[in-house]
Amino acid sequence: MRFTVAIDGPAAAGKGTIARMVAAEFGFAHLDTGLLYRAVGRKALAMGQGVIDPLQAAKIAAGLADTDIDRDDLRSARVAQAASKVAVLPDVRAALLQFQRDFARRDGGAILDGRDIGTVICPDADVKLFVTASDAVRAKRRFAELRAKTPELTLETVERDLKQRDIRDASRDAAPMVAAMDALVLDTTEMTIKAAVQAAIDVIREYRGCRPS
Ligand code: CDP
Repeated sequence: MRFTVAIDGPAAAGKGTIARMVAAEFGFAHLDTGLLYRAVGRKALAMGQGVIDPLQAAKIAAGLADTDIDRDDLRSARVAQAASKVAVLPDVRAALLQFQRDFARRDGGAILDGRDIGTVICPDADVKLFVTASDAVRAKRRFAELRAKTPELTLETVERDLKQRDIRDASRDAAPMVAAMDALVLDTTEMTIKAAVQAAIDVIREYRGCRPS
C-alpha cells in the first residue's frame, strides 16, 4: 500500500510534532526533510570554517550519509540558519530530491514534512497539509524547545531567526515555501498541539474513508 502525506509550513508551526504523531497513529514512515538541509548546512559551515561555499554544499548534499543526519547538534538556531542558506541553492535541492521521492513512495505509507513537499517533492501526495501559526506563537513554541539547551537564548532572538528564515524560504527561486493549491491550511495559533494532531488525523481518516479500495 502506498499512501503519501505531505506537510509543509513555516518554521516552528508544529509540522514535526504533527507528522511524528500522525506517523505513529497510521504506522507510516516519517521523514523530517528539514534534517537533510540542517545536516548539509552544519557540515558546510564546519568544512568552510564558518563560511558556506555553494559548490562544497552541493557536494555534501550529494554524499550525505546517515551519520550526518543522525546527530544531536542539528537543532540549534545557528544550524537552522545555515540550513536555510544552503536550501536556496538549486544544486543542493536537486541532490536531495530523489532520496525524498523514494522515501515518499515506500510501501506502508509515508509522511514527509518540510517546505516544498506538496509542491515539488510529492505534487501527487494523497493528503497535503500546510501548517501555520502566528509569528508570536511560533516564536514562543521554539523558544520553549530550545532554551533548556541554550540558556542564553532570548525570545527576541528566536523570533528574529524564524522571521529571517521564513523570508528566505518564501522568497527563494528554487522550490519556495508556499502552500500547494490543493493543500488544506491548518492554522494552529489557537490550537493545542493535541488538537492540531487530531485535526490532521481526522483529515487523513476522512480521505481514506472516501478512497476507492
Ligand atoms: O524545524 P523548523 O521548521 O524550524 O526547520 P526545518 O524544517 O528543520 O528546516 C530548516 C530549514 O531547512 C528551513 O528553514 C528551510 O530553509 C530548509 N528546508 C527546505 O528548504 N525544504 C524542506 N523541505 C525542508 C527544510
